[in-house]
Amino acid sequence: MVLPASTQMVLREGHSEFNFGQPDPDLLPLDAMRRAPSAALDTFGADMLGYGAPEGAWPLLAWIQARVGSREHIDVGLDECIGTAGNSDAIDQVCTLFTEPGDVVLVESPTYHLGLRILQDHGLALEAVPVDADGLSIEALEARLADLGRSGRSPRLLYTIPTFHNPTGVSLSPERRRTLIDLAVRHGFLILEDDVYRELAYDGPAPPSLFSLAPRGVVLRMGSFAKALAPGLRLGWLNCSAEQARRFADGGLRDSGGAPNFTAAMMVAALCQSGDFDRHVARLRQAYRERRDALAGALAAHLPPGCTFTTPRGGYFIWIELPSHVDGDLLLDRAGSHRVSFVPGGRVCIDGRSRHCVRLAFSLMKPDALAEGARRLAAAIGDAT
Ligand SMILES: Cc1ncc(COP(=O)(O)O)c(C=O)c1O
Repeated sequence: MVLPASTQMVLREGHSEFNFGQPDPDLLPLDAMRRAPSAALDTFGADMLGYGAPEGAWPLLAWIQARVGSREHIDVGLDECIGTAGNSDAIDQVCTLFTEPGDVVLVESPTYHLGLRILQDHGLALEAVPVDADGLSIEALEARLADLGRSGRSPRLLYTIPTFHNPTGVSLSPERRRTLIDLAVRHGFLILEDDVYRELAYDGPAPPSLFSLAPRGVVLRMGSFAKALAPGLRLGWLNCSAEQARRFADGGLRDSGGAPNFTAAMMVAALCQSGDFDRHVARLRQAYRERRDALAGALAAHLPPGCTFTTPRGGYFIWIELPSHVDGDLLLDRAGSHRVSFVPGGRVCIDGRSRHCVRLAFSLMKPDALAEGARRLAAAIGDAT
């Protein structure tokens, strides 16, 4: 029996696949991952094959604690770090522990479309707040909070990707970060900060996380090894207050099974302790910076008049605004004949706002292929205008 190679990413020969926000397999850390299991067994022995603690793998949590302290210049307690199976898992767990079906949850428009699916699984009442070049619009958020207040409702949670946003690539401005936190404190909602792209910063350090700026208890920040190491590890962490962290660790799920993916977490702890994590991230930054530049340069050269695009300072995505009469879904249908694909904007928002936009991921293709893809995309848009 022949098993399918992958359940997710089926690449078509000769196509420019801008649609997958996934790492290039050629940039996955094969050598470091070859070393990690034996280094972990040497260091941790049989312990790494046990259930592990409900909080997560202590050596990895200690490494995260030290890294957050040194990179973000804040004191974070070990009891304010909790292991997860990545950000998808963390979103799901946060919904389980901190929301009830029917609760109002604010989401960005546009946002990470698969994150939306997880929130929808929990029967939440999602309300969209637009994103502009400086990230989440605070003006629109204030208006939405006022509207909700008039109908006697208030949000439980706001899900946001403030740093190297998926899909737009923008980052929330420093002023907006502070105002957002003030609003959360004043209106009593939690901020669920999706910080999955923090390590992939191409023009200097990433902006400070909301978690690092806010009083404890306001922000739950989700970090992941999916983009900086490998998505298949299914490994991440949460920073939150010690009291919030206890809600994860005290649940029956972890009481029975321990924290998710304990053995993988111990391997990653050994990999991080060896310096391989930092070396790998440095390589990723260089490779993805070159790809961002190659795609941005080719788009500037080839896109027809009436199109604008973002040049992100990190992450995986460039966001294109097409002329307002061009629909992203219809463009995708036509783009097939030009052998190019992307994510149409209508799929990444719940309010139809981005129908004339498209998301391009530059993570998967090499610079030459990105340039060719930009030419194909420009030809498809030219046909549609
Ligand atoms: C914004 C965002 N959050 C979460 C994820 C998924 O994270 P993980 O693999 O850690 O579940 C992605 C992956 O594309 C993403 O772009």
